[in-house]
Amino acid sequence: MERDIKKLVSEMTLEEKAGMCSGEDFWHLKKVERLGIPSVMVSDGPHGLRKQPEEADHLGIGASIVAVCFPAACATASSFDTELMNEMGKTLGEECQAENLSVLLGPAVNIKRSPLCGRNFEYLSEDPYLAGKMAAAYIRGVQSKDVGTSMKHYAANNQEYRRMSCSSNLSERTFREIYLAAFETAVKEAQPKTIMCSYNKINGTYASENHHLLTEILRDEWGFEGYVMTDWGAVADRVKGIAAGLDLEMPGSGGFNDAKIVAAVKDGSLDEKLLDEAVENILKVVFSYADNRHPDAVFDRDADHEKAVKIETECAVLLENNGLLPLKADAKVAYIGEYAAKPRYQGGGSSHINASKVTSALESAEAKGRAVTYVKGFPADKDEEDEKELAAAVQAAKEADAAVIFAGLPDIIESEGYDRKDMKLPACQNKLIEAVVKVQPNTVVVLHNGSPVETPWADRVAAVLEMYLGGQGVGEATDLLLYGEVNPSGRLAETFPLHLEDNPSYLNFPGDGTNVDYAEGVYVGYRYYDTKKMPVRWAFGHGLSYTTYAYGNLKMPAEALGDEGCVKVTVDVTNTGSLAGKEVVQLYVSDKNGTAGRPAKELKGFAKVALAPGETKTVEFTLTARDLSFYHEGLGDWYAPSGSYEILVGHASDEIALTGELSFETKKMLPLYVSGATTLGELLAHPVTAPVVGQMMQQMQGGMMGAMQGEDTAEALGTGAEMMEAMMMGMPLKSLASFAGPEAAAQIEQMMGSLNQMLGNQ
Ligand code: BGC
Repeated sequence: MERDIKKLVSEMTLEEKAGMCSGEDFWHLKKVERLGIPSVMVSDGPHGLRKQPEEADHLGIGASIVAVCFPAACATASSFDTELMNEMGKTLGEECQAENLSVLLGPAVNIKRSPLCGRNFEYLSEDPYLAGKMAAAYIRGVQSKDVGTSMKHYAANNQEYRRMSCSSNLSERTFREIYLAAFETAVKEAQPKTIMCSYNKINGTYASENHHLLTEILRDEWGFEGYVMTDWGAVADRVKGIAAGLDLEMPGSGGFNDAKIVAAVKDGSLDEKLLDEAVENILKVVFSYADNRHPDAVFDRDADHEKAVKIETECAVLLENNGLLPLKADAKVAYIGEYAAKPRYQGGGSSHINASKVTSALESAEAKGRAVTYVKGFPADKDEEDEKELAAAVQAAKEADAAVIFAGLPDIIESEGYDRKDMKLPACQNKLIEAVVKVQPNTVVVLHNGSPVETPWADRVAAVLEMYLGGQGVGEATDLLLYGEVNPSGRLAETFPLHLEDNPSYLNFPGDGTNVDYAEGVYVGYRYYDTKKMPVRWAFGHGLSYTTYAYGNLKMPAEALGDEGCVKVTVDVTNTGSLAGKEVVQLYVSDKNGTAGRPAKELKGFAKVALAPGETKTVEFTLTARDLSFYHEGLGDWYAPSGSYEILVGHASDEIALTGELSFETKKMLPLYVSGATTLGELLAHPVTAPVVGQMMQQMQGGMMGAMQGEDTAEALGTGAEMMEAMMMGMPLKSLASFAGPEAAAQIEQMMGSLNQMLGNQ
């Protein structure tokens, strides 16, 4: 049924309209019975349903219905598999229909700026390209079931410390390239029904009343069509919010802010049209759900549990393996660490799921009759040494063929609401790992964490398997991977630095509570480590397999790419081992034009490919100008200089197999204002000014200019001609004028005026 939403809004009273712009209670929007507007429910998200039947809270404290806890985003991003993400979205959408939820509050796409952010487990990646593609896939999946999503937290909410009031201060370029890009991709590719604005300020203005963010960028530039809701309690000035493009306040202020909207319309300080638009935005989404219910939808918890297991097997990342894994079916193995029996599978806070069942690796091993013994070794919930347990662990490890230590971060260390203090595992766990390794070289460490940890023992263990917060099926998934029933195929969606201090945000995280300066700019994650050529523990994109892959036949386009259109790059990937597996082919781009401030390389394509032993597949990537571009603040647009770009294809950011060259031609012209500080080099590089300046230089051959360009001068100054040219090119006009004599100086001054005219400057 096509509804005339505008007409409906025109029939609402001012009070009804203002009321529509805030929640009825913690999870419901308001109804207007006389007009047939139903009350619909929203719920967290993102990796399962936290539907609260009665007492409501946004901290994961009160009870919620029994649901299925899928792997958290730290894990699902590591699948590098958009189809898998889409499937998970569809399952969640179906569950929402069955539970009558109009919007699922997710995905959460904030960039992992520091490994310490308490909520990193819920976020996808340090890389906006990966985060954007995975978020888009999730959104398409959920929304294919006529249920909305709420992509959050928009924007620059990259820490928990003072998240509700702190100002994230960053340049427009950093904002666009790193912190907005994932939102942009997902809005353009998947059109989420709603966006949740964050609590924090951006350069001094709250997200919830930020016109640049909510209207200029989100709607005018990206074409967002849904409604913007606040994070829970993120309103500062409600009236400013409406004017900025904020539609819905959640959970609502019991009418307090609605009254302010009414008063502002009445006294003329708020244009009623803006309120009408907000209500239209909300009602469009309300009815897109209410008019498209799926009465036959079922929430099949058992079937969805199996999906959660399957998904997690595609997410886990094999970080190290000296050949010990997969374990032999009949190997005598000691399972050590309480997480073997009680896995940590989700993080704390608003995403906390009341899981229908949780499987442990120990249970799974026992169910399969594996030769496994278990020693607790250390507790799952705190950092507490126990000498007896440690001794028992060492003894069990000695007696077995191999030891598997289940390590991880206790719940209390990693949660929404606060950040981690350091990047360490509990000391009792590190101590136990070191002690076990001394007696048992065949030691595997399985990790249960939502964000990188320091692993000082990494070079002394035989294998490391990162399960992340793997959802309620994590135990079964671990078993399948350890024993090779599934071949690991996850890849790191974030770098594991050697030490916390190596992280680029280290000196500026989390700020002083009032401000946090993103001083590292666009150098986030591997963009920083790669550019600095710094060693890391495990690089972005890294992940091992039980088989091997080879790359060949990288085919680059013959023609140059232009501002419009696209080019195709293809590469062959072969499974050279004896087991079936899935390779994640990654494509990075590097600007070779000496452009200032560009990271060594940036991810611009990835594909997960299933390959039988010996099988080869051709993978195709499509590149556009945007893939080569950075955000140019002067231009107010994306820009890539004409020239040469290197295309790097391979297994991981630190394992590039093949490279090719792509040339690019742009017609975009950078803005230039000619002043005394403008250099000859800048003028000769700009298509508008270059001919004029070139001619002028020729005319000046006889004077000082000529002398400076001459070989004799170069020799007299003891410089080569090359150096002379470099000096000339870097020479600002004001200095040129003072060297060149009065006549030429006057000419230069005149030329500055006419160049500015030619450039269209006032
Ligand atoms: C969180 C959101 C969540 C909301 C509702 C807030 O504290 O930041 O991610 O969706 O609560 O629970």
